Amino acid sequence: MANIAPYSEKVMDHFTNPRNMGELPDANAIGEVGNPACGDMMRLYLKIEDGVIADVKFKTFGCGAAIASSSMMTEMIKGKPVEYAASLTNQEVADALDGLPPVKIHCSLMAEEALKSALDDYEKRLAEKAMKS
Ligand code: FES
Repeated sequence: MANIAPYSEKVMDHFTNPRNMGELPDANAIGEVGNPACGDMMRLYLKIEDGVIADVKFKTFGCGAAIASSSMMTEMIKGKPVEYAASLTNQEVADALDGLPPVKIHCSLMAEEALKSALDDYEKRLAEKAMKS
C-alpha cells in the first residue's frame, strides 16, 4: 500500500508497533511531561543500574508522532550510559525516525523532556538517599 501520510516508514512502524510501551514496577526514576500546545502527556519509567539505563518503558497519551518519538527514544537509550541519555536531543530522535514533518517536531520534544524529567527524578532520589545515610 502506498504511504500517503507525510511520515517516514520508521515513524509509521514505531507508531503502529511501539517498543517498550507500558509501566516499570521497579523503576527508580520516573519522568512526566505534558505538552501545553496540544494537551498530550507522556510518562517515562527508567531502571538505572550502575550508571546504565538497564530498562525503560513509556506511556504516551498523544499523537502518532509523540508515540513514535517515545518509542524510538526508549530504543536509543536502553542499555546506554546515563550520560548518553542526558545528552540526547529531540532532533536526534527525529533524525533516527528519518525525520518528522516540521509541524510535528514539537511532539518529539516531549520525549526529550520526559527523559530529562526522569533523570532529574533520579538525581533527586540519589540526593535524598545520600542525606538519609
Ligand atoms: Fe501533541 Fe503531537 S500533537 S504531542
